[in-house]
Amino acid sequence: MAKKVLSIQSHVVHGYVGNKAATFPLQYRGWDVDALNTVQFSNHPAYGHFRGFRSTAEELREIIEEGLVKGLGIKYDAVLTGYLPDVAGLRTIAATVTKMCKNDPSTKWILDPVLGDNGRLYVPEETIPIYKGILEQGEVFLATPNQFEMEILTCITIKDYDSLKRSINKFHELFPRVKYVVVTSVSIPELHDHSFLSACSDNKAKSAHYFQVEKIDAHFSGSGDLFSALLVDTLLNDENVTIDLPLALNKVLSLVDSILQNTFNIVSNETSKRPLKINDLKLIESRNLLRGEIKPRYKPIE
Ligand code: ATP
Ligand code: MG
Ligand code: NA
Ligand code: MG
Repeated sequence: MAKKVLSIQSHVVHGYVGNKAATFPLQYRGWDVDALNTVQFSNHPAYGHFRGFRSTAEELREIIEEGLVKGLGIKYDAVLTGYLPDVAGLRTIAATVTKMCKNDPSTKWILDPVLGDNGRLYVPEETIPIYKGILEQGEVFLATPNQFEMEILTCITIKDYDSLKRSINKFHELFPRVKYVVVTSVSIPELHDHSFLSACSDNKAKSAHYFQVEKIDAHFSGSGDLFSALLVDTLLNDENVTIDLPLALNKVLSLVDSILQNTFNIVSNETSKRPLKINDLKLIESRNLLRGEIKPRYKPIE
């Protein structure tokens, strides 16, 4: 039977971010995806304009608790939460998912603590203590902060390997209930902007693994959402008897890189110039990359 994931994210009519970046890759890799859309927007705000609307916290709670859990009795292998539109939605979803995980300990919550990027918050300030509370008290299995989010959550500025290591240790100290953490990408001066680090760690072993990956010279919308979705697959799909986080991360880094590179090439050809900002991932054109066994390409740094 296909594994089941409940993916709680935004929806864009046009383009590939949020649930549109998560659903197709997960389905293509054999997952039964129940997609709950927190917002419905015409397109990603990076275009400069968009139209759409949000669901209220109560509407979302009703769909999950009354509709899916009580009504249909569905059991999920994983719940994936990403960007949530407001503080009330975040609180409600967190309480609901916590309840689901408590009632069924085989449900794994993968939480992307979306706060901002590149030094800029894109949620209200009051979201920060809420995420900290969720990580402290919730039932989070894996969290996937980017560098900025990791710095906010741990109050440690990451500027080299040493501070990255300290920030990971601090994360485990502050949030001992969270089993795994993946810091999706970290830029430090000594890598000269040509490459970034990605790190993962486990609250028991407390030994982090690092990978160095070459940067593609463009900004992609949706890369983080694609990343967390694929991590659900590489970590929790049926082939995994035991969890191997470094291997799962290595596979995701390899596959995301191939998809972003393919997207970059297609957009470069379409526009006949070097694209700097890519609003829509070319996921459909990358479907062949999504098929089959994923080969990990990177060597962990000791
Ligand atoms: P987003 O910026 O999409 O909101 P995020 O900030 O949550 O995502 P990032 O760390 O920025 O998370 O991106 C997630 C992953 O996407 C990275 O770990 C990396 O694998 C890949 N990625 C993103 N941008 C690039 C890039 N320019 N070149 C290569 N890989 C990239
Ligand atoms: Mg980013
Ligand atoms: Na992230
Ligand atoms: Mg993100």
